[in-house]
Amino acid sequence: MAKVNDNYLKLPGSYLFSTIGKKVNAFAAANPDKKIIRLGIGDVTQPLAPAIISALHSAVDEMADAATFRGYAPDLGYEFLRNAIAENDYRARGCDIGADEIFVSDGAKCDSGNIQEIFSTDNKIAVCDPVYPVYVDTNVMAGRTGTYQAETETWSDVIYMPCTAETDFAPELPGKTPDLIYLCFPNNPTGSTITRSRLQEWVDYANRVGAVIIYDAAYEAYISQEGVPHSIYECQGARTCAIELHSFSKNAGFTGVRLGYTVVPKDLKVGDVALHGLWARRHGTKYNGAPYIVQRAGEAVYSEEGKAQLQKQVAYYMNNANYILEGLKAAGYTVSGGVNAPYIWLKTPGNMTSWEFFDYLLEQANVVGTPGSGFGPSGEGYFRLTAFGSYENTVEAIDRIRNLSGC
Ligand code: MLT
Repeated sequence: MAKVNDNYLKLPGSYLFSTIGKKVNAFAAANPDKKIIRLGIGDVTQPLAPAIISALHSAVDEMADAATFRGYAPDLGYEFLRNAIAENDYRARGCDIGADEIFVSDGAKCDSGNIQEIFSTDNKIAVCDPVYPVYVDTNVMAGRTGTYQAETETWSDVIYMPCTAETDFAPELPGKTPDLIYLCFPNNPTGSTITRSRLQEWVDYANRVGAVIIYDAAYEAYISQEGVPHSIYECQGARTCAIELHSFSKNAGFTGVRLGYTVVPKDLKVGDVALHGLWARRHGTKYNGAPYIVQRAGEAVYSEEGKAQLQKQVAYYMNNANYILEGLKAAGYTVSGGVNAPYIWLKTPGNMTSWEFFDYLLEQANVVGTPGSGFGPSGEGYFRLTAFGSYENTVEAIDRIRNLSGC
């Protein structure tokens, strides 16, 4: 008789953004006259840049002609895209990463969930708290996290690294030694960053204890300050301890197009096993690659025209971030993030829990955000707003929040 993977049964509730989606849909159905502004999930709203649209059109035309038609993509992704990534995201920043260490995929969410498969199930993971829920949930599915403790909303076998106002929303080196360390900077959900020298301490630590860092750099395009690293490979020794995840969703608006990549350096070994070979085996066996037309669109992200257009798009969202940050500050909220990241992290007013504030904001201002506790226990009492809305909706949402009374 078939048996289910009962690790799935341990997962409490549904995926955070599915829960929010259901609540918002129910509210919308009950209040059809209300204009709801969605600043919850970090989904982009601006159209694809013209350089990308043009690359997509040309690639579609190629697919219409037998002479230029393409079938399955190469295992690691097309060389034209991997070369552009290696040149622009790494060599231009002085990082030693080759095109053959880059694995093109359909997005960083999938990679951040799948990467744990190449590690033993008895590895101990360390995560920031709060944290992007995919890292923890996929380790639960794999049976790596022990039992769920409802009172503390934590897993018995996970090392939590609290990121609170006291630590400037950055993690301290953990007291217990982990095997896998998940880091994401600029951070989702808090919008905090890490300096290069602080990240170097993590790299040194991981090399010292034999841990692997899974570094999620999905939001690097939003870095505006000097001294904030765009890649973990800006740190010495990262080639022997770090895997890096990248997305095209946030820097180029590909949330609906789907494209990302993962870097596994050839020097990265666990014992005498090179992780590059394991990830290549997994990629080749379970995956047939992002579509040709999408990889051509990805290549256009690195064209001169594409870069200039995307810089403007990032600036557009960061203008929203600034509006949210300053607007909420003026209204008396305690806020952070929003300078090197498209997320603003605010303290809920009047000691409301994160979910109480979610309901309050939805009902009173018809604005959707994300409850901090959905990202982990240290997120309780906090709330995340995204800067990915349109400017007009962002302004209207903040004006509505400012006009609320009683908080
Ligand atoms: C978020 O809102 O945290 C992200 O958009 C979710 C994602 O990128 O998968």
